[in-house]
Amino acid sequence: MGIVELARPEIVAMKPYSSARTEAPGKGILLNANEAPWPLLSDTLIGAELNRYPDPQPADLLARLADLYQVPEEMVLMTRGSDEGIDLLTRVFCRAGQDAILQCPPTFGMYRIAAQTQGAEVVSVPRMPDGSFSLDRQAMLDALQDDQRIKLVFLTSPNNPTGDVIGEDYLEELLRVSRNRALVIVDEAYAEFCRQPSASGMITANENLVVLRTMSKAWAAAGLRCGVVLAQPAAIALLRRVIAPYPLPSPVVALALRMLGRDMLEKQQNLLQQISDNKRVLIGVLENRPFIRNLIPGEANFVLIRVDEAEELLAFCAQRNLVLRGFPADPMLRGCIRISVGSENDIAALSAALDEWESTR
Ligand SMILES: Cc1ncc(COP(=O)(O)O)c(C=O)c1O
Repeated sequence: MGIVELARPEIVAMKPYSSARTEAPGKGILLNANEAPWPLLSDTLIGAELNRYPDPQPADLLARLADLYQVPEEMVLMTRGSDEGIDLLTRVFCRAGQDAILQCPPTFGMYRIAAQTQGAEVVSVPRMPDGSFSLDRQAMLDALQDDQRIKLVFLTSPNNPTGDVIGEDYLEELLRVSRNRALVIVDEAYAEFCRQPSASGMITANENLVVLRTMSKAWAAAGLRCGVVLAQPAAIALLRRVIAPYPLPSPVVALALRMLGRDMLEKQQNLLQQISDNKRVLIGVLENRPFIRNLIPGEANFVLIRVDEAEELLAFCAQRNLVLRGFPADPMLRGCIRISVGSENDIAALSAALDEWESTR
């Protein structure tokens, strides 16, 4: 069975929308898209012709991203952040009331939201309850074997909020078990912060592997809303059937091209180095505090701690203008707080607040 047979039959059968820009790329006297003939805001300000619809998948940005992620261009779909990639995958592959996703909580919350929005079942294989939060590998394989409804397996490497990565051998095993049955999605939103090589090198050999990347984290551009789905061309073609006709606003495309310019590579490497240095400082600030029961450094740009009185500590920090991430609604993360690696000043402010907190205990 190929990837097309795994997709919802109605998506495969549907005649996709053909936008004006797809039918005729934006050259010549453009009277085909009901656009205004001139912009009201100057294009020098915006870096784009605002009166025109953007190219659905601009060739120059596509080429740059393919180069960055070391895959052929036909394996790239540009999206509004990885969030959109997760949504598209769920809409294309999960039939409401029939299919399911597999996820391993605690993990990124949007897999569940996308599935529930689509009316798909969420099969959860919780991570180990022993405080390590490692994957329950056997339970995942069992779930895949036993539950034929599972169409999408969402893996996150490094995982949010536990920061652990998926080993290549285990990924191979999951891909093997899922072949002709389900897609395995490796969400690599935080990949640049860890040493593990990207799973994208395995796409050519695995039709059912999808990798998600984003500019939101390691490219310091969460505001751009720019991400990619990396997969074999057949899967990309299916997702293109349901993506909005013009997903990427032209100012975003212009900014993304500037962001990914060769001259920015050194800046980005410096950012990664600085975050790695600051993470070491942050860990030093957190270590050996009596109220911190567990410190999980992980391999991303955040750490996870488990503390006594998490709610109170979060409120205490908030009063000092420090916003940390708690998980009051998640029983698996009771007492846990996720702290992003900030600037040196941010960490100093956190350190002072924790000293104060500690002195009152
Ligand atoms: C694991 C994971 N995947 C995806 C996203 C969403 O990324 P984007 O900003 O590209 O939509 C996040 C955001 O925090 C995340 O933690």
